[in-house]
Amino acid sequence: MRKIIAVASFTAVLLSSCTPKTQTATAPTGPATSTAAQIAQGKTIFENSCGRCHKLPDPTAHTSVQWVGIMNSMAPKAKLTDEQHQWVYDYIVSVEK
Ligand code: HEC
Repeated sequence: MRKIIAVASFTAVLLSSCTPKTQTATAPTGPATSTAAQIAQGKTIFENSCGRCHKLPDPTAHTSVQWVGIMNSMAPKAKLTDEQHQWVYDYIVSVEK
């Protein structure tokens, strides 16, 4: 029992020492891990690439879960790299909140 508590508090320390700002984006469609600069880049890419075939979508029109699926089908259409895919997704989700 004591061991479990020790492991749990160690995990908590690990988690709290890992702020999103110092992480680099590696997960293709995970929760927002991009820096402010990457999100700003995502916004530019979104505005330049996502209004070419249809009008620019409204980020607030879908939930973050729906956007995972939409981005999975739209990123290849817009010829985004995995990184750009992540930044655009994180930008969209940042608008939503
Ligand atoms: C090469 C053309 C093209 C590009 C570029 C493109 N889309 Fe689309 N998009 C489509 C087409 C065609 C549809 C409608 C058919 C479909 O859902 O596949 C669509 C539909 C959508 C929808 C509606 C989906 C729904 O379920 O209601 C959204 C939202 C969307 N696109 C977002 C984006 C975003 C964000 C980007 C930029 C990453 C993007 N699109 C880039 C062609 C494109």
